[in-house]
Amino acid sequence: MHNETDFKLTFAHSAIPCNVCHFKEQKWSFKISGNKCVSCHANFHENAISNNFFDENNCESCHSTKTWTNVTFDHNKTKFQLTGKHENVSCSNCHFVFENNTIIKQKFSSLNLNCSQCHDDVHQGQFIENDKELCENCHTTNNWQPTLFDHNQTMFIIDGAHQKVDCFECHKTNTKNGISFVQYKIEDIRCISCHS
Ligand code: HEC
Ligand code: HEC
Ligand code: HEC
Ligand code: HEC
Ligand code: HEC
Ligand code: HEC
Ligand code: HEC
Ligand code: HEC
Repeated sequence: MHNETDFKLTFAHSAIPCNVCHFKEQKWSFKISGNKCVSCHANFHENAISNNFFDENNCESCHSTKTWTNVTFDHNKTKFQLTGKHENVSCSNCHFVFENNTIIKQKFSSLNLNCSQCHDDVHQGQFIENDKELCENCHTTNNWQPTLFDHNQTMFIIDGAHQKVDCFECHKTNTKNGISFVQYKIEDIRCISCHS
């Protein structure tokens, strides 16, 4: 008859012996004041999640009593939509930092929209302008092919004999701090910079 009280025993809670909740300090007590999740569960996230998404310690906006890892949340309420390959990435992969399978750090409100927070900038900063990353001018979240890039939108149109030239004949390997990368930015686009 527990489900006639204001606190229904569902999922994980229905497998918990009565005494875990009702036998405290060597005596039975059936009057329990406070049946919000935080009355019994510590706020695991502390200050990692901003108040916009976590008002009044309300766990139920994301969690149920099934398991803590089964989370429901409409990510479109943030400025970062989960598209392409990101759709199948688990929340914890982006929001927790693990060391030996233990969560050592949570990142929620501390994240911004920059791809390089989680992915290597293989271009070594060539496509960062005034601190803004331009990754999405060329890439989508489906793969790292430069799908959105059109060479003819640059200052240098690829036509005539150049159409048969391999990218890497013009875009040479460069090194910076011991890391090699392809030099895509070419300052001097005059014929004479490549041809005698
Ligand atoms: C996960 C914790 C939890 C478990 C497990 C649990 N209860 Fe409860 N129980 C509560 C809470 C919280 C309330 C207070 C509900 C409310 O505010 O109406 C409650 C209320 C009650 C009440 C009503 C008290 C009253 O004055 O109305 C009884 C009786 C009770 N529980 C018996 C049991 C029995 C028997 C079991 C095992 C079959 C059990 N409970 C298992 C948390 C639990
Ligand atoms: C009256 C105390 C009480 C309240 C209120 C309560 N819980 Fe629990 N809950 C427990 C206890 C006790 C356990 C078993 C021990 C443990 O895992 O902490 C448990 C276990 C769980 C588990 C399973 C944990 C696991 O390791 O599998 C989940 C999930 C959970 N609770 C979610 C919630 C959510 C969500 C709320 C709010 C809707 C809530 N609980 C409210 C007492 C409570
Ligand atoms: C805005 C959404 C949100 C709210 C609100 C929220 N959580 Fe979470 N919580 C998450 C996400 C995301 C995870 C990671 C789930 C996963 O493993 O992929 C998580 C995981 C957890 C875990 C499991 C950690 C582990 O060891 O894997 C616990 C415990 C937890 N939350 C407790 C709480 C409690 C208690 C509250 C309320 C005080 C709460 N959460 C409120 C989003 C939320
Ligand atoms: C591919 C990575 C990725 C995945 C997967 C992901 N998130 Fe996020 N999440 C982000 C980024 C990036 C932001 C920051 C957006 C911003 O700055 O507005 C964010 C923001 C959030 C915020 C807002 C935090 C705050 O305090 O402002 C919440 C809550 C959140 N995510 C919950 C979740 C939950 C729940 C899941 C699983 C269903 C999830 N996220 C999956 C990358 C991810
Ligand atoms: C908060 C962390 C986070 C941010 C921010 C983020 N990603 Fe991801 N992304 C991931 C994770 C985790 C995966 C899945 C594991 C992996 O493949 O690296 C992933 C996967 C991908 C993949 C699939 C890779 C593959 O090999 O299949 C692409 C493409 C991608 N992200 C593009 C982007 C782009 C573009 C941005 C910026 C708009 C971005 N990501 C921002 C965490 C993030
Ligand atoms: C102007 C277009 C452009 C921009 C902007 C851009 N990229 Fe690229 N990216 C490329 C091209 C071209 C390649 C090479 C594809 C190939 O080798 O087939 C590439 C390849 C990649 C690869 C795959 C490397 C590999 O070895 O497979 C990653 C990862 C990547 N870019 C990340 C980023 C990130 C992160 C940003 C933002 C900081 C970014 N890119 C911005 C054009 C761009
Ligand atoms: C014949 C020489 C040549 C070939 C072949 C060539 N490029 Fe370029 N590329 C250039 C020059 C010159 C620029 C500089 C144009 C500019 O700054 O607007 C450039 C610029 C770029 C940029 C940077 C655009 C930006 O926003 O700064 C990328 C990315 C790029 N090329 C990718 C490629 C890829 C991928 C290929 C092969 C499919 C390729 N290029 C083939 C000469 C070439
Ligand atoms: C960023 C370097 C670069 C720039 C700038 C450049 N080219 Fe080229 N061009 C190449 C490369 C590499 C090849 C292929 C190798 C070769 O034939 O030298 C090539 C091939 C050619 C060929 C074919 C040569 C042959 O023997 O078949 C012609 C013609 C040509 N370029 C003309 C031009 C003209 C005209 C300009 C200025 C509008 C120009 N190129 C600017 C790199 C460049």
